Amino acid sequence: GVFTRADIPGNHHFGAVVADEPFLADERVHYIGQPIAVVAARTRQEAAGACALVKVQVEEQPACCSIDDAIRSESFLGGPRRITRGDFDAAWALAPGKLEGVIDIGGQEHFYFESQAAIAYPGENGSLRVHASTQNPTELQTVIAAALNLGMHAVVCECRRMGGAFGGKETQAAIPAFLAALVAHKTNRAARVVYTKREDLLRTGKRHPYRCFWKVGFERNGQILCARLEFYSDGGCSTDLSLAVLERTILHADNAYFVPDIDIRGRVCRTNLPSNTAFRGFGAPQVVAVMENILQEVAISLRKDAYEVRRRNCYGSGKRRVTPYGQIVEGNSLPRIFRQLAKTADYKARLAAIVKFNETSKSSFRGIAMTAVKFGISFTKKFLNQANAMVNVYTDGTVQVSTGATEMGQGVHTKIRQLVADEFGIGVDSVSVMITSTEKSNNTSPTSASVGTDLNGAAAVDACRQIRERLARVAAMMLAEGGEKGGNAAMHMRFAGARVYDERGPQRTVAFRDLVHQARLERVDLGARGFYATPGLDFHAASGQGRPFLYYTMGAAVAEVVVDRFTGELDVERVDILMDLGRMINPGIDRGQVIGAFMQGLGWLTTEELGFDGEHLTSDSISNYKIPAITDLPKDFRLDFLKSNNRKNLGGSRAVGEPPLLLALATWAAVKHALSFVHAGHIQPLGIPATPERIMLCLRELENRREPRQSRTHGSPA
Ligand code: MTE
Ligand code: HPA
Ligand code: MOS
Repeated sequence: GVFTRADIPGNHHFGAVVADEPFLADERVHYIGQPIAVVAARTRQEAAGACALVKVQVEEQPACCSIDDAIRSESFLGGPRRITRGDFDAAWALAPGKLEGVIDIGGQEHFYFESQAAIAYPGENGSLRVHASTQNPTELQTVIAAALNLGMHAVVCECRRMGGAFGGKETQAAIPAFLAALVAHKTNRAARVVYTKREDLLRTGKRHPYRCFWKVGFERNGQILCARLEFYSDGGCSTDLSLAVLERTILHADNAYFVPDIDIRGRVCRTNLPSNTAFRGFGAPQVVAVMENILQEVAISLRKDAYEVRRRNCYGSGKRRVTPYGQIVEGNSLPRIFRQLAKTADYKARLAAIVKFNETSKSSFRGIAMTAVKFGISFTKKFLNQANAMVNVYTDGTVQVSTGATEMGQGVHTKIRQLVADEFGIGVDSVSVMITSTEKSNNTSPTSASVGTDLNGAAAVDACRQIRERLARVAAMMLAEGGEKGGNAAMHMRFAGARVYDERGPQRTVAFRDLVHQARLERVDLGARGFYATPGLDFHAASGQGRPFLYYTMGAAVAEVVVDRFTGELDVERVDILMDLGRMINPGIDRGQVIGAFMQGLGWLTTEELGFDGEHLTSDSISNYKIPAITDLPKDFRLDFLKSNNRKNLGGSRAVGEPPLLLALATWAAVKHALSFVHAGHIQPLGIPATPERIMLCLRELENRREPRQSRTHGSPA
């Protein structure tokens, strides 16, 4: 079969915020790689052969392929966004120190190892079961039902696990899953779509590239007085999540620093590229790069230690812990993190050694920098902050749990399994985490925004507690000696070591398995549905004020680098990370997340460069797009966690998935520090990614400026 948009009976478009993305091209083709028709065949080879026979006639029109093009032709998605506090213009006019600049920040390919894939099975009465590699089964169920004119009750979407996602499967699993569903619907046969790696690279969106125009005013001591940040992101051809990404950008402009008078503006550019989308950090890495760049440049221009400048500006107490959008930074561990990490990383002594090294070194420059992260935890769209779960206890004492959380390697299933086991006081071997399915968990949110465990874990715990309460009453009866009948005793029941006992007389116990068996005989319900909705969220997008986040995940990193003076090559000598993750549910997983996220950030900042020739993607394979390899790990990598407890969240923990990616900025800032030795007090803008080529050009520029004008004195940093 060959199917085009004419074969779609229902909605032709979909979209999480605005339904402006076609499943199959309509009158216009918006980007290279956009699907126009789907060919169904028995084998991949047959399908490829048939595809090669398709002749597409397209009339070429001018394409808009960059942020520049889009600004010039006023090609935007959605309206402008802005958050302000105080009076930037007044503060700028009075500021003793001033700097301004433009920074270009590159996008990033997700490079999950399993490309987009889905299989659709036709069922009874036109129903469909779709198994997909997706972070968002409910979205697939919704858009497939609407496109095929089916009720949502006729479509089940499920996902066992993904071979990586990183945000790339939050919305962009929809097209391949829909194509499989369309073919299954039309042919009444199971249909599978699997993108090759190259198809995936060409067709799917990436991290948003940004251009930012910035201005900052400061005191001679390095204290920031005011900032104006103006962002343009490249949204690609349709809205997708770009407006939500921009919202998170605007809400992270401050990063870990208090800026009294601040004016933050943003706009999404529409270009003829695949729609850019969620990627670990969701708009925060780009803006945090801008803020950390500002702090580094303020320090360079004042010839001060950048750590001291950062510490001076870091969120503190009282008035100095209020964000531009009015949320107070509660449980602010940043000052503690700064102090502790500077000490354990031996910052001062290493800085002194680096200064000395650079004075005499002929072939390389060293640099060191500490940067921080304060990442808001919650979906910025309030309604997404909810989850449900189903827990079934079987008569042999084993348990199944199903939630809306999807597993992509981040370990959410391991954490939920542990949480459930702990609630019943049984071993993890007795708990199975079942396939994620819209059949068991309805109307789910995507597994994203780092809150997979926070939301779904809490819902699972809620279900367990309901069952435990019922079981406690049965246990109280089983353990009752003589007179005491259930009642009051139930609240004293403890579940531990696969046994249940009264805390007032722990020597008599009943096995969990025997208890469950007895409960069945007593006709007690051994299943429950749990629910969780994040409390206290209250953010008003129109005024830009309120409380968008339940809490923040915070941390900092110190990186030391060596830059080769003749090739621009970069070596990361040592990295020290300190994070506050509260009471971790699984320290092993969290360690993996921190290291993985840091390395993914390092790739974005130093080696991963998207190449375009006009609208053609040139970085279309692993040989011309360089993700970090094992050899790119810092030579010396040290990781530590603050001892703390987060009373606002599940088990005292803090979310980990995205925040540590931003810590890789320490490496980039360390490169800027190294470059600052070439021509003291002088700044040469450094883009992202800081590839050897870019570093090289930066070095040249600084050296050229130095040689002929050695004697000139440099006064004002501006
Ligand atoms: N870790 C692995 N191994 N693979 C992934 O795809 N995605 C990241 C992060 N860690 C990802 C990962 C992203 S973008 C997010 S939002 C979180 O995991 C989502 O899962 P969580 O909310 O359960 O942490
Ligand atoms: N983060 C990640 N994914 C999202 C968000 C968010 O804040 N909102 C909608 N999808
Ligand atoms: Mo992660 S970008 O929120 O899927």
